[in-house]
Formats: sequence, structure tokens, C-alpha cells
Amino acid sequence: MGNINIVILAAGQGKRMMSSIPKVLHPLAGVPMVRRVLSAAQGLNPAAVVVVIGHGGESVKAALPAGTLTAVQFEQKGTGHAVAQALPLLDASLPTLVLCGDVPCINGADLQALLAKAGSDMAVLTATPADATGYGRMVINAAGLIERIVEHKDCTPAQRVVLTEINTGVMVLPAGKAATWLAALQPNNAQGEYYLTDCVALSNADGVPVHRVPAAKAWQTEGVNSRAQLAMLERLHQRELADALMAKGVALADPARIDVRGELHCEQDVSIDVNCVFEGRVHIATGAVIGANCILKDCTIAAGAQILPFTHIDHATVGAGSRIGPYARLRPGTLLANDCHVGNFVELKNTQMAAHSKANHLAYVGDATIGSQVNIGAGVITCNYDGANKHRTVIEDRAFVGSDVQLIAPVTVGAGATIGAGTTLSKDAPPEQLTVSRAKQITVEGWKRPVKLPKPAN
Ligand code: UD1
Ligand code: CA
Repeated sequence: MGNINIVILAAGQGKRMMSSIPKVLHPLAGVPMVRRVLSAAQGLNPAAVVVVIGHGGESVKAALPAGTLTAVQFEQKGTGHAVAQALPLLDASLPTLVLCGDVPCINGADLQALLAKAGSDMAVLTATPADATGYGRMVINAAGLIERIVEHKDCTPAQRVVLTEINTGVMVLPAGKAATWLAALQPNNAQGEYYLTDCVALSNADGVPVHRVPAAKAWQTEGVNSRAQLAMLERLHQRELADALMAKGVALADPARIDVRGELHCEQDVSIDVNCVFEGRVHIATGAVIGANCILKDCTIAAGAQILPFTHIDHATVGAGSRIGPYARLRPGTLLANDCHVGNFVELKNTQMAAHSKANHLAYVGDATIGSQVNIGAGVITCNYDGANKHRTVIEDRAFVGSDVQLIAPVTVGAGATIGAGTTLSKDAPPEQLTVSRAKQITVEGWKRPVKLPKPAN
């Protein structure tokens, strides 16, 4: 596309959200609505994108990528007035595409179709929803072109019934016309506002035809006014992502119970059980199985790995055929090689584990380098933090760390070493030997259990 201006309207308050957060900052699939619209806009490779801000403008601006052009609309006097605020930042010799910051699912393909149809004319993206209440209605002429748009509030009762095709709010103004038309708008309507939609009549008066382009999927053009609408669009969006995953060979236990809040790439025959949440960039290789209620963020799961239910993974890599969970937590910097086992209530952080090693129950392993075929027993803790600094623990190949061992870092367990249960390891343990620190066990002769005293009478 290249040669267009884009204006994103985001100055409105969104009263019906009942929120102190500006409407366009409420997230859909984890991303503020206005950022989704901005991404769609940038996908068209425009000459300039200007976001019109107003209500909560400072926080909206802060949520936009650095360098995003903004224009402030100090008073919300209508959509036409809002676009006019952006004019000084636009190239008047290019057509201008107008988008809404509260239409988060707007589809790039629809926008391309709209721009193609517009050519050097005007064009409006339309839809025919089951209920057109509240929308601007298209008045279509015999040639199938748009004659004018009548806002719902300005419609006669008959028009409200008959005019079922609506303005999605997305339209293209031709090059060289926007400034003149916007200056000519009059607020003589039910809302006393400068309506962008009145540009349609002005375009016709100028001899410029106004084309209509129906959106491929009406829901993708829907604006968000309430939390209920946002939640509905979230589900529709998620369903679309779920369908795309299934089409690529992913088995979803229930496509209605998955949440992708980033980019999820799955190879064939990945299986995902219900209620999993994916954030950031997640890559899951072929045959991997993700159990119910897992949260996976910015991670890579290699082929055939099993992530059992209720596991949290954040900035970590799981090797092929490894088995994680249930109830495991892999924190940033965790790198597991092939065939590792990490079981219930085990937390790993900034830890590298080589192939065939295990930590199956109740352990904290942080800032550690673990060799291959290592066994870490139940209750093992790396004491990596001395209150001021973090230190590393090194556990070499084939070491066996017994239950309830504390490893006071920095410390090294040599290859093939065995650390006896209950040991507090404060010095390096040599390879291939048993190291144990344990208070001597004694039995107290003649000791008697205390007996319960009789209750005092009162
Ligand atoms: C608008 C359209 C209507 C269309 C509907 C689609 C007009 C006059 N009406 O109606 O035809 O069917 O959208 O959802 O254009 N905004 C500003 N500044 C303002 C007013 C609005 O930035 O002064 C922004 C809002 O933040 C929002 C968008 O423009 O992102 C649409 O405004 P809204 O008030 O929701 O318009 P509607 O009455 O829904
Ligand atoms: Ca609206």
C-alpha cells in the first residue's frame, strides 16, 4: 500500500466500561485494543499513522510505542472533529484511512480490500449486523453506492427498520479532500457533534463516488463499548486462533477453552488440554502434550515433551521427551535437555539441566548447573542467596543428591558423588564418594511421654 495516511480515533472516554482506565487501553488477548489497531495499521505500511488522543490521553500515549505520532483532541466534539485534529500531521496529497481505537479485531485483509475499492474515491467498510441499534446507517442509491450515512439517533423510526447496512466507522477519504470536507461539517444533528459520516454527503456533492465494502466477518469490525462486548470479542478472537491451530494439526481438547495472548506456534500432533494460557512467544514441537491448566510464557517445548497439569513455564526451554509437572514451576533461565523429569512442587530458576536428570518432588533449584543423569531428591534446596548476592551451585554428572539436602552456594557436587539425606552441604563434595553432614542419632533411655494434666475444676 505505502501511500496512505492513517488516523486512529482514540479520544473517546468509554463511559460504559465503568473504568478509570481509558477504554482503548483495555486488553484483548493481552494487548491493549489501541495497540492491536496500530499493528493492523502498520501492516499497511502507511506514510504516517496518527493516533488522536483525548480522554486519558497521557496514559494512552504512554501505552503506545515510542515515536508514535499523536494529536490531542481537547474536547470530544465528534468523529469529524477528531480526524481534523490529525490533519496537520498528514500528507494532504495522500488518501486517509480512518480507524477506531476501540475496534480491536479489525482485519488487515478488509482494510486492503477497502483501500483497493476506494482507489481515488471515498469508501466505507460496512456490515449488516443482526441488531443495527446505535450504528450509522447506509443510504444506498440505485447504483449501489452510498449516498449518505444517517446516525441511528438521527434516523426516523422507518429508517431504523429499513436501513440495515451499517457504518463500521472505518473509511477512506480521498487525497486532497479531507481538509475541505472536515471544515465544512456542521453540528446540526441529534448529538450536536461534527460527524465524520457527513463526509459521505459532501463527497457526493463534490462528484466523488462513495463505495461500500462489506467486511468479510462482521464481528471483526465491532467496536467495544462495554466489558461484556470486550469479553465477547475476546472469545470470538480466541475461537479464530483455536480454529487456525486445529487446521495445522493441533489437537485441542476444547477450542472454547484456550487463551492465546501472544504468538503460539505449534507443530503437528501437539495436544493441548483445557484451560491453558499462552503468553509471549511460545513454540511447541511435534507430539508434545500440554496438560490442563498450564500457563506457558515465552518458552520452547521440544518434541514429545509432556507438560502435566497446573505447570507454569516462563522464559524456559524444555528438551525433547522431558516430563514436567504436575504443579511444576520453571522460571526464567531454565534450560532442560532431553528426557529430564521435573515433578510436583519443584521450582527451577536460571538452572541448566543436562539430559536424563530428575528432580521429581518438592525442590527449589536456582542458579544451578546440573549435569546428566543427576538425581535430585525430595526437599532439596539450593541456598543460592546469601542475603546480598546470588551464587551458583554445580552438580556434576551422575551425582545423587539425597532428600532434604541444602546446598549452600557457591558449592560443587562432584561427578558420581552421593550426598546423604538431610545434609547441609557447605563445602564442595568430592566425586564418587558419599558426603553427609548429619547430627548423630541418639535414643534417650527411660524417656517417658508427657501425660496430659487433669483439667482444673472451676
Ligand atoms: C460512530 C459512527 C457511526 C458508526 C459507529 C461504529 C460517527 C458520527 N458515527 O458512532 O456511524 O456506526 O461509530 O462504531 O462517526 N471519537 C473521538 N473523538 C470524538 C468522538 C469519538 O476520538 O470526539 C472516537 C471514539 O473514541 C471512538 C470512535 O471515535 O473510538 C467512534 O466514536 P463513538 O462515539 O463510539 O461513535 P459512535 O456514536 O459509536
Ligand atoms: Ca462506538
